[in-house]
Amino acid sequence: MAQLWGGRFTKETDQLVYNFNASILFDQKFFHQDVKGSIAHVKMLADVGVLTDEERDVIVQGLNGIVADVDAGRLEITSEYEDIHSFVEANLIRRIGDAGKKLHTGRSRNDQVALDMKLYVRDELAEVQELLYQLMQVLHRRMKENVDTYMPGFTHLQKAQPITFAHHLGAYMEMFKRDASRITDLRERMNYCPLGSGALAGTTYPLDREQTAELLGFYGPTLNSMDSVADRDYIIEMLSAFSTIMMHLSRFSEEIILWNSNEYQFIELDDGYSTGSSIMPQKKNPDIAELVRGKTGRVYAALFSILTTMKGIPLAYNKDMQEDKELTFDAMDTVKGCLALFTGMLDTMTLRTERMEASAKAGFTNATDAADYLVKHGVPFRDAHSIIGQLVLYCIERNISLDDMSLEELKAFSPVFETDIYEAISLETCVSRRNTIGGPGRKAMQEVIARNDAYLKEKGSVVHEQDRAGQT
Ligand code: ARG
Repeated sequence: MAQLWGGRFTKETDQLVYNFNASILFDQKFFHQDVKGSIAHVKMLADVGVLTDEERDVIVQGLNGIVADVDAGRLEITSEYEDIHSFVEANLIRRIGDAGKKLHTGRSRNDQVALDMKLYVRDELAEVQELLYQLMQVLHRRMKENVDTYMPGFTHLQKAQPITFAHHLGAYMEMFKRDASRITDLRERMNYCPLGSGALAGTTYPLDREQTAELLGFYGPTLNSMDSVADRDYIIEMLSAFSTIMMHLSRFSEEIILWNSNEYQFIELDDGYSTGSSIMPQKKNPDIAELVRGKTGRVYAALFSILTTMKGIPLAYNKDMQEDKELTFDAMDTVKGCLALFTGMLDTMTLRTERMEASAKAGFTNATDAADYLVKHGVPFRDAHSIIGQLVLYCIERNISLDDMSLEELKAFSPVFETDIYEAISLETCVSRRNTIGGPGRKAMQEVIARNDAYLKEKGSVVHEQDRAGQT
């Protein structure tokens, strides 16, 4: 057991207590961020005269040596240490001797862990956003290719009106754009540095918190040392944003599962993204989509877990807050994995556009347009609705569609029908007339696609200022 705090104690910690308390098995996840924070702290300590330049240099060199050895597999992070902070400090002292004992001057593990977690979250969020943009790139491509791919649009899972596949995908595009902007928002809000807040009440050392904040790419220092060590709002915001991402992926997965089913056959998932059955040779199952839908639950669970953990904690730091780590790490890996797999699945699936189009034709999705035709010829809408309702019933009894009726048959329901009715209720017309911005018509879709194009070009070139800082 390697602990940082033995002095005040008269006996060894019970092994079970030690294990229960330790966090090394999971907080090694932010090993690199921990060292990065320590290097900034030490540079600042030398600048304000708490450490000499020589001490700073050996400490920084020692810390970099630890990173190099861990990364190369020469040094192992083991459960012999209580947490990642203890691991780094103990190894530093082993390596450089007494100078290493000065690393923790003017710092507590409370502000240290608050910093590490923020650095980790900030780094990972940049990756999540990148994965969202990659997913959107695939969506965008598929949208551009399918502006004229007709399919039924549904309400209540009943065929409603014809749309295009591009239009359907465009709905998800909007969701993912909002998801990405939520991440931008929370990265902005969280980007203040807790380092220098000490255990809870700041410190008597003349620390330059502006300097460490700047070195680490933050906008500035946090403004209350108690809040600094007790704040986990950004984790809650992040898990809420993640829950929304997963909710979107889950709805999309559900549709993909339906479309891939024998009944729909709108798409076929690539063999690489499907699995077989151990007993039924004919099966090709959409397991990836199902797993994404299923994993949504554990991300929601992480959100509820941290909300519950935080609700009764008095200021300032309490050990309860160590519980933020495992569930955040799990949610992070889950969201990243789901986004990456979903992108591949979407990229490789085959579209059965003829099936989509046939389905759009078969379900009276042009009934609204037929009613509109009557309205344009002077029939009040309510009467038109009723006439077309009777037409639909007539067709259902004969197992035909509206387009299959002869003009004589149509005229029996209303004398205003003329031969131009067929053109007016064709799939092409039904879709292409819907050109209000946001609608499925070709013109409206091209406009949206052009905007998405500009959006993705702009986002593709963004490198977060925070990520550039503190690299040296
Ligand atoms: N492992 C701890 C955590 O994750 C680090 C902070 C420990 N601070 C303390 N006073 N015991 O929260």
